[in-house]
Amino acid sequence: MFKPVQIADGIYSVGCRDWDIRDFHGYSTYEGTSYNAFLILDEKNVLIDTVKKEFADEFLDNISKIIDPSKIDIVISNHTEMDHSGALPAVMQRIGKDKTIFCSKMGFKNLKSHFTSPLNLKSVENGEELNIGKRTLSFLETKMLHWPDSMFTYLKYDKILFSSDAFGQHYAGDCAFDDEIGDEIMSHCAKYYANILLTYSSKVQDLLKSVAASGLEIKMICPDHGIIWRDNPGKIIAAYDKWSRQELSKKAVVIFDTMWHSTAKMAREVAKGIESLNVSVRLMNTRKCHRSDIMAEVLDAKALVVGSPTINNGIFPVIADVMTYIKGLKPKNRMAAAFGSYGWSGEAVKILNNEFQAMGMEIVDDGLKVQYVPAKADLEKCFELGEKIAKKIIETVN
Ligand code: FEO
Repeated sequence: MFKPVQIADGIYSVGCRDWDIRDFHGYSTYEGTSYNAFLILDEKNVLIDTVKKEFADEFLDNISKIIDPSKIDIVISNHTEMDHSGALPAVMQRIGKDKTIFCSKMGFKNLKSHFTSPLNLKSVENGEELNIGKRTLSFLETKMLHWPDSMFTYLKYDKILFSSDAFGQHYAGDCAFDDEIGDEIMSHCAKYYANILLTYSSKVQDLLKSVAASGLEIKMICPDHGIIWRDNPGKIIAAYDKWSRQELSKKAVVIFDTMWHSTAKMAREVAKGIESLNVSVRLMNTRKCHRSDIMAEVLDAKALVVGSPTINNGIFPVIADVMTYIKGLKPKNRMAAAFGSYGWSGEAVKILNNEFQAMGMEIVDDGLKVQYVPAKADLEKCFELGEKIAKKIIETVN
């Protein structure tokens, strides 16, 4: 199912594709994913990252198609999360347990905590270099992008950046490079950014600025998931710049759940009101849409409009799930409003407003609650709420 791909002279992508995975710790991966790892042949042969534990044999087979794994001299661990280091003990068994694994200082601690088998770890400083023959590797600390241990490795001779999780996508299709898939990949990239990196946007900005200031020339970006950026690495860098600035569109996401269709009726009227002023709207029922897909739509939306019935004096559990998820990913510069049907107590709107406030969102309206089934006049108010939100979006988004 997989063969190593040569990405430059003497450099190979040797990772594995996970065709089956549909839930990546709570992120919906409808098109699977890949665990990318890279082999550099030089005076010293280098392996950058490994794969999930379950793929260790397939991974070693891939490497064996290029060289005998025992001929690898050095391993680099850019990131210790288990999808990139799980196979490390099995791989070191084949490569040679005494071979050095270079990692960041936090990587050193993490790998020691994760594995009981002895590993010959050596931590590197930010900016430290390692000569491997005609090439030199340079290590770039990228703490919290997206774990404390994360780092990039830059190959000076070839001007290739091995970027760990950053600039990746959960995609396991036929294409290996950006020029093979074109713009189709960008929705995967956006979803990945929204769900994994949005919360670290200020750090992404710092990184992009420091890389620009250093004048680092990047001809190719090799992330640990998805396609390799060989044709236009600037495209994904520009996208990260936009997303991390949290530049937003004239767009609202109406997120709702419903008990006896009343909140659903309200949601549709709110959405109609938004759309009536030519503001883009997404209507997302939390029991039909996965939280990670909702987050992908939130990425560029100026407004979040959330509807929940009241149940047991609270909001619906699925809405609570989505709100907790969104809160953790820290979207900035958003406006919000709440609505919902209730039977006799009706706390949901107030609870949602408190959540918006805790997230630093501008509350556009006190919210709209309707007892039992919305009458025609109630639905007109929902439409008006939509219009009010749309007007505010138009006023604030250029
Ligand atoms: Fe792809 Fe943070 O692991």
